[in-house]
Amino acid sequence: MLTTIAIANYRSLLNLIMPMAPLNLITGFNGSGKSNLYKSLRLLAETAQGGVISSLAREGGLESAYWAGPEKLTAKMLSGEVAIQGGQRQQAYRLRLGFASDDIGYCIDLGLPTPAASAFAFDPEIKRECIWAGSSYRPASVLVERQGPVVKVKDGRRWHIIAQHMNTFDSMLSEVADMQLAPEILHTRELIRGWRFYDHFRSDAHAPARQPHIGTRTPALSQDGHDLAAALQTIIEIGDHPALQNAVDDAFPGAHIRIGVQEDGRFILYFSQPGLLRPLTAAELSDGTLRYLLWVAALLTPRPPSLMVLNEPETSLHPDLLPALGRLIKYAAQHTQVWVVSHARLMINELTDSPHCSALHLVKQLGSTQIEGQSLLDVPSWHWPAI
Ligand SMILES: Nc1ncnc2c1ncn2[C@@H]1O[C@H](COP(=O)(O)OP(=O)(O)O)[C@@H](O)[C@H]1O
Ligand SMILES: [Mg+2]
Repeated sequence: MLTTIAIANYRSLLNLIMPMAPLNLITGFNGSGKSNLYKSLRLLAETAQGGVISSLAREGGLESAYWAGPEKLTAKMLSGEVAIQGGQRQQAYRLRLGFASDDIGYCIDLGLPTPAASAFAFDPEIKRECIWAGSSYRPASVLVERQGPVVKVKDGRRWHIIAQHMNTFDSMLSEVADMQLAPEILHTRELIRGWRFYDHFRSDAHAPARQPHIGTRTPALSQDGHDLAAALQTIIEIGDHPALQNAVDDAFPGAHIRIGVQEDGRFILYFSQPGLLRPLTAAELSDGTLRYLLWVAALLTPRPPSLMVLNEPETSLHPDLLPALGRLIKYAAQHTQVWVVSHARLMINELTDSPHCSALHLVKQLGSTQIEGQSLLDVPSWHWPAI
C-alpha cells in the first residue's frame, strides 16, 4: 500500500506531501488543484511506461507545467507583510514527483537541459531518480540512484554502476531490467505499473462502450470502456457476480444485466428493467445508466490493481445514482487502494461514512495548493534527496 505521495513544483503544487489511506477522497473548490494533483499522479505513473517526457511535452513542456510562483513562499509573504517577488533562484529548476509505500520509496527529478547543440533544447530531462528502502528517504537507505546518465546500485557498503549511458529522456524504471543486479528497479516498476487510472468515460451516441465488440476475457476494463460487455461477462464468470448483481440492483431496483454473444463473436450488453417488455442494449441506455455500468465494471475488477485512481467519477450521473456509486467505491476499496477526486456532495457523504476514508480538502494559498488543516505535525515524513 502507498503511504505517501509527494509533488514539488508541478503547476499549483509547490510542495504537497499527501498521506495515503486505503480510501482517499480529494475535494476542493474549482481551481484548488484537484486536476493538477490527478495529472501529477498520471505523470508519475508514466515513468514506469517510459512516457514521462512525452507526457510533459504534451502538456506544453516543463516551462508550462512548472510552478509559476516564487521559488519559496516565505512566512512573510503568506502573512501579507511582504509582496510576492521572484528574486534570485537559489536552486535549479526541478519538478519532483515521488511516492513511498510500506517497503520502498521512489522519486524522480525533471529539469531543463544544459544548453547543447540539439534541436530538442526545450525537452525536459530526467536529472535524477532514487529508490530507497523504507517509507522515508535517508541517504543511508538509498538502494538505487540515477544521476544523469549513470545508474548505480548499492551492494552492502559498495556501489555498483549498472548503466552509464542512460538517455536524458528515459527513466531507469523503463530501461533497466536486470533482475539480478537491480531487483529493486523491477519491483518499483511493477508497483507503478499496477496503478490503474479512470477519467471521464464517454457516453455519447458514438461512445466505444455503446458498440458491440469481439469479447475476450477482460479482468481490467480499458480506459475508454469499449470492452464493457466483455469486462462484465468476466466478472460474471470468474469474479464477484453477487456484488455485480447488488451494484445494479442498488442503483436500479429490480434491473439486471445479461451479456449476449452475436454470431460473429461480438458481445452485446442487455439491460432489463421492470416495466419494459424487452431489454435495452448498450446503444439505447441513458448516459447515466451507461456510465454507472462502466463504473461497476471498472470497480468490481476480478484483478484489483495496487492503486485505482478515479477522477470525478460523478460526471454526468444522475444525483440518484451517486450514493450507489459511493457504496461501490467503498466496496472496491476493500480490495484495492482507491484515490478519488470528487465534488458531488451525495457521493462524498457516502464515502466519508467509511472508517477507512481519508478526506483531504484542497485549498489555494497564494496560488499554491495546500491540504486544508494540514499542520507540520500531520505532514507525513518526507525528504527529497538533496539536488
Ligand atoms: N504552472 C502553474 N503554476 C502555478 N499554478 C498553476 C500552473 N498551471 C495551472 N495553475 C493553476 O492551477 C489551477 C487549476 O487547477 P485545477 O487542478 O485544474 O483545479 P480543479 O481543482 O478545479 O481541478 C488554476 O487556478 C491555475 O491557476
Ligand atoms: Mg478539475
